[in-house]
Amino acid sequence: MMNGDFIDPSKLNFKHVPVLLNECLESLALKKNMVVVDATLGGAGHSQEIVKRISGGTLVGLDRDTTALCFSAGVLAEAANVEIRLIKCNFCDIADILKSLGIDQVDAILADFGVSSHQIDTRERGFSYTQDAPLDMRMDTDAHKTADTVVNAYPESKLADLIWNYGEERYARRIAAAIVAARPISSTGHLVEVIKNAVPSGYGKTGGHPAKRTFQAIRIEVNQELESIQKFLDGAIEMLKPGGRLAVISFHSLEDRIVKQTFKQYATDCICPPKIPQCICHHKASVKLLTKKPICPKLEETISNPRSASAKLRVICKL
Ligand SMILES: C[S@@+](CC[C@H](N)C(=O)[O-])C[C@H]1O[C@@H](n2cnc3c(N)ncnc32)[C@H](O)[C@@H]1O
Repeated sequence: MMNGDFIDPSKLNFKHVPVLLNECLESLALKKNMVVVDATLGGAGHSQEIVKRISGGTLVGLDRDTTALCFSAGVLAEAANVEIRLIKCNFCDIADILKSLGIDQVDAILADFGVSSHQIDTRERGFSYTQDAPLDMRMDTDAHKTADTVVNAYPESKLADLIWNYGEERYARRIAAAIVAARPISSTGHLVEVIKNAVPSGYGKTGGHPAKRTFQAIRIEVNQELESIQKFLDGAIEMLKPGGRLAVISFHSLEDRIVKQTFKQYATDCICPPKIPQCICHHKASVKLLTKKPICPKLEETISNPRSASAKLRVICKL
């Protein structure tokens, strides 16, 4: 990102309350002069506090959303005695990005997955099922694929599979069939109506809005979120120095499963299938799990910031 390319924070209604803030700061074991990566900069809610603890060090902030980067550049402009480097990219490229900056190893990395409150609340981005907007849902507004492509051009079977797999939506087949029958679908409001008509009346009274899971699935597909997370974790672990920490917040079971399994694999010596009597993989653990069970928000946090309710923080330390 170009220096000086920032939005005056007071001129943008960018509200995002950082989730599990104290838990993250503690887990990262921050000290003066450290090189730290915030892989999901968002509104710099976490980074604002990180920079206060790494005086003399460097903060590398990554995000694929230009507005978030410009806003955060303004927020972090006041950070005293910390070098700030903000990069527009997909965090899956973390290893190549850091190497291109001349950084071979880092002390700590934070990732806080998903969309920011600002993205959800900006109507025209199309993330919300409570407001009528264009079918967009791109975190990176320069990216090619939008929700319109998924909703109006995907074959029915592909649509059903992704609503089932990424939304864990039990009425995935019905919803996909209804979407295809209603094409062309013109907006998020139109899509919500189609979904509501496809599911039994009363569905969603207990488990949230009837369109919640389908919207999650389409968003994951548009932004290729799960593939990015897997590649990010491999790259982030590669770039940590011995003793360096990686802290990851996930918000739903699909994200958390990838984090949990990847951390477990890197923390285990032998990863041969159980039926093989003697190790042939010669895999050696390269990280230590610092959270056997994920850290979840306290009740007070879930009351003051309901978005935090499903958050899970997992932390590892490089050996
Ligand atoms: C939950 S918000 C982070 C909020 C931030 N921690 C704060 O407290 O202000 C997630 C951010 O990560 C970004 N993001 C999500 N997936 C990404 C990816 N694959 N590559 C880069 N940025 C991504 C989103 O654009 C969003 O701004």
